[in-house]
Amino acid sequence: MLDRDSLFAHLRRRPDVEAPNLVAVDAADRLILDEAATALADAPTGTVAVIGDHYGALTLGAAVTHGATGIRVYQDPLTGELALARNAEAAGLTSCYRQCTLGQDLLAGAKVVVLQLPRSLSELTEIAEAIARYADRGVVVYAGGRNKHISTGMNDVLRRSFGSVRATLGRQKSRVLIASGPVAAAQPSFPVTEHIDDIGLDVVSYGAAFAGSALDIGTRCLLDFLPRVNPTANTAVDLGCGTGILAVSLARLLPDISVIATDQSAAAVASASATARANGVADRVSTLRDDVMSTLATDSCDVILCNPPFHVGAAVHTGIALKMFAEAGRVLRSGGEMWTVYNSHLGYRGRLQRLVGRTDVVGRNPKFTVTRSIA
Ligand SMILES: C[S@@+](CC[C@H](N)C(=O)[O-])C[C@H]1O[C@@H](n2cnc3c(N)ncnc32)[C@H](O)[C@@H]1O
Repeated sequence: MLDRDSLFAHLRRRPDVEAPNLVAVDAADRLILDEAATALADAPTGTVAVIGDHYGALTLGAAVTHGATGIRVYQDPLTGELALARNAEAAGLTSCYRQCTLGQDLLAGAKVVVLQLPRSLSELTEIAEAIARYADRGVVVYAGGRNKHISTGMNDVLRRSFGSVRATLGRQKSRVLIASGPVAAAQPSFPVTEHIDDIGLDVVSYGAAFAGSALDIGTRCLLDFLPRVNPTANTAVDLGCGTGILAVSLARLLPDISVIATDQSAAAVASASATARANGVADRVSTLRDDVMSTLATDSCDVILCNPPFHVGAAVHTGIALKMFAEAGRVLRSGGEMWTVYNSHLGYRGRLQRLVGRTDVVGRNPKFTVTRSIA
């Protein structure tokens, strides 16, 4: 019989970036499971929900330690879902859980929720409100994270949705907040819609979407170059679309183009669909939840727009950006264009040149560089 330590020793992050400094299980996973141990052991089948599991440590840890089955799971990033599935397969635990959306499907009747605290307060607000709205009235939430990522704002967010919130003693630079006594909000806070005067767009965002309903300053730089995109292009991809500002702006500029807005984040994809609808271009902007365009055909598109992430989870890392450039080189047809914005100090031009094709710097300020690469 597999025990937790041997399970954790074999957990992998793939298909997310793997590197010696990036782990699949952290001290917060262990602390959350330890703090929730009695509740998990006592929870009737089908009453445990897991939110924000990074790579499966919480879900599979609950299964091997407490024999939990019927675990309902929600993970915003697709790479987390895929990693959990592969780790479950390797451990022979595929039948202990099922993936759900953030809502009733995940939370109805849930008595124990274990949660890796998300990075943003918006994401935590949406999660806390969903738990308070849909879970059992006796639900107890074990929300943990690394101390460096836990802010007092997180306590405040949880206090708005729960009558009682307390912090456990820390261990190995991690901490768990335990919340109970759910108080449902009269109206959910998400999605949020903001009109951005500067670019004349209504932007719709769910809690976990990058930049919320604001305009990222890097994205703002890239928008200035959209009038230079090949006007005869038929197909474009907004790679790592967030709320879909680039996709929707391009669709408004070129009336015959079809754009795929793709992201691995469930919240981003839902936001981009809603942003496309809000701006009257939903007929030409479709959305796709995918890990770096892995399901798009080779040589299939004319233009890619990209403001790549420089984080992998909470760690600053170039791994995903490089994966995006390599995939762009595959998906662009010969002669297709990739327009990229990045922090100038990252110096991606050489990588773009190697992975996509001839790359020119078309704009640069002290903070951002915009490049055009021709495949
Ligand atoms: C810097 S944000 C840019 C968002 C949006 N394009 C904008 O300009 O506001 C990078 C985006 O890449 C997405 N991302 C991260 N890893 C990804 C992956 N493996 N596959 C697809 N998208 C990913 C993130 O969810 C995030 O929305």
